[in-house]
Amino acid sequence: MNITKQTQTLDISVIKDKIQNLIYSANTLNMLEKLALAESIFELLEEKKDFDTLVRQLNVDLEVAATNRRKQIGEFDSNCEWYTPPQFIELARKVLGKIDLDPASNKVAQQWIKAEKYYTKENNGYAQKWSGNVWCNPPYGRDVNLAYGDKKSTPVTYYWLKKGIELYQKKEIKQIIFLVNRTGATWYKDIVINFNGLCEVTKRIAFYDSQGNPSTGARYYNDFLYLGNNAYKFEDVFCEIGRVIA
Ligand SMILES: C[S@@+](CC[C@H](N)C(=O)[O-])C[C@H]1O[C@@H](n2cnc3c(N)ncnc32)[C@H](O)[C@@H]1O
Repeated sequence: MNITKQTQTLDISVIKDKIQNLIYSANTLNMLEKLALAESIFELLEEKKDFDTLVRQLNVDLEVAATNRRKQIGEFDSNCEWYTPPQFIELARKVLGKIDLDPASNKVAQQWIKAEKYYTKENNGYAQKWSGNVWCNPPYGRDVNLAYGDKKSTPVTYYWLKKGIELYQKKEIKQIIFLVNRTGATWYKDIVINFNGLCEVTKRIAFYDSQGNPSTGARYYNDFLYLGNNAYKFEDVFCEIGRVIA
């Protein structure tokens, strides 16, 4: 199949190569986002759009993707200043041994989390190097998601979980425990199968506010997710607060 550039006819495979190179060199995007972007442009190609329309669309998509990416990694609209109560942090500490890293944190929560190292939205823990035993109650909020197949809006949490799974698989981190909100969504059900421990907390957690005070209304059900080689320990420790699958 060919498409037309002014009077010139271009071979579709040459165009595909060029587009792919262009997308893959965009360093504001991760691999999944690049693949999704390439796929959407190729769809336009298959519809035999003319070259100028394709280039215009590609530039718009790249710009949108880059903006979304910036939002995902640090500029979130929703308030995620709700902190894990100390008793749950102590359960995580029992399993992890010690908390080497809390990549999504702040000064107030660190008074009781006491991670060896922590990052905040100011220095963007999503983009930092993660290692050791990691505790993570990631930011929430939604964003247009170019990485997730159907392009529906997917919570930022998804990207943090994905990063944890990838780093564990690459053995860059030893163990990780995530605490996740709103656990009924399809995106969550798809990603949760990658973990080797899951605890569905029986009671709703009363998170602490940004001053470090317990909240009165707990709104969502929560899961703790575990990756590491000590799933039995996770089960032993977390069965006191909910149903554990390990
Ligand atoms: C749900 S709270 C959890 C805090 C703490 N880790 C805990 O377990 O209680 C998420 C925290 O991540 C912070 N945050 C938001 N975006 C971030 C980013 N890009 N990098 C690091 N921290 C971020 C928020 O400011 C907030 O304090």
